[in-house]
Amino acid sequence: MSRKKVGILISGRGSNMSALIEAAKVPDYPAEIVGILSNRASAAGLQVAAAEGIATASLAQSKFLSRDMFEDTVSQVLESWEVDIVCLAGFMRILGEDFVNRWAGRMINIHPSLLPLYKGLDTHARAIADGATEHGCTVHYVTPGLDEGEAILQAKVPVLAGDTPETLSARVLVEEHRIYPEALKILANRLP
Ligand code: GRF
Repeated sequence: MSRKKVGILISGRGSNMSALIEAAKVPDYPAEIVGILSNRASAAGLQVAAAEGIATASLAQSKFLSRDMFEDTVSQVLESWEVDIVCLAGFMRILGEDFVNRWAGRMINIHPSLLPLYKGLDTHARAIADGATEHGCTVHYVTPGLDEGEAILQAKVPVLAGDTPETLSARVLVEEHRIYPEALKILANRLP
């Protein structure tokens, strides 16, 4: 079995990244994690990845003259790792159309809502403010429209009386860590 090579883009703590790394340790998992790139040098996930012996890179967009130049360099790093699939895992940058098209069909994201509900930021607070009774997370293909690509998997959780954004986010995160590895497996098996 040839395993698909995966690069993960992060900006912070990297708990979804860790879930993917753990899943890929199982011998018959169809993907391997070959590199982690962060747009923030301080991202805690970089240290976790390095401790796992995975290649890491840190690129600050502010060091580049334009977003296109930054994203070209991100693609070059990913290509140097020979990645087949890009996973966004808490990557807090909106990616430009050229970058998205370059990785079309091979790039997925995890979003903490039941898309198409609550695209963008502060999803947990918005669900609570609306009086939603259920909430959740979605793994979807990345397309040029923000949080608009086709869903691969979703998971639901209840919104409970007294929930705060923190308690709800913790409940959703458990499901994120479950469905992201499952969705990556689905994508790896779909690709030729
Ligand atoms: C997660 O809630 C994810 O859904 C969102 O950003 C957060 C990243 O958390 N896109 P982590 O860095 O994976 O711990």
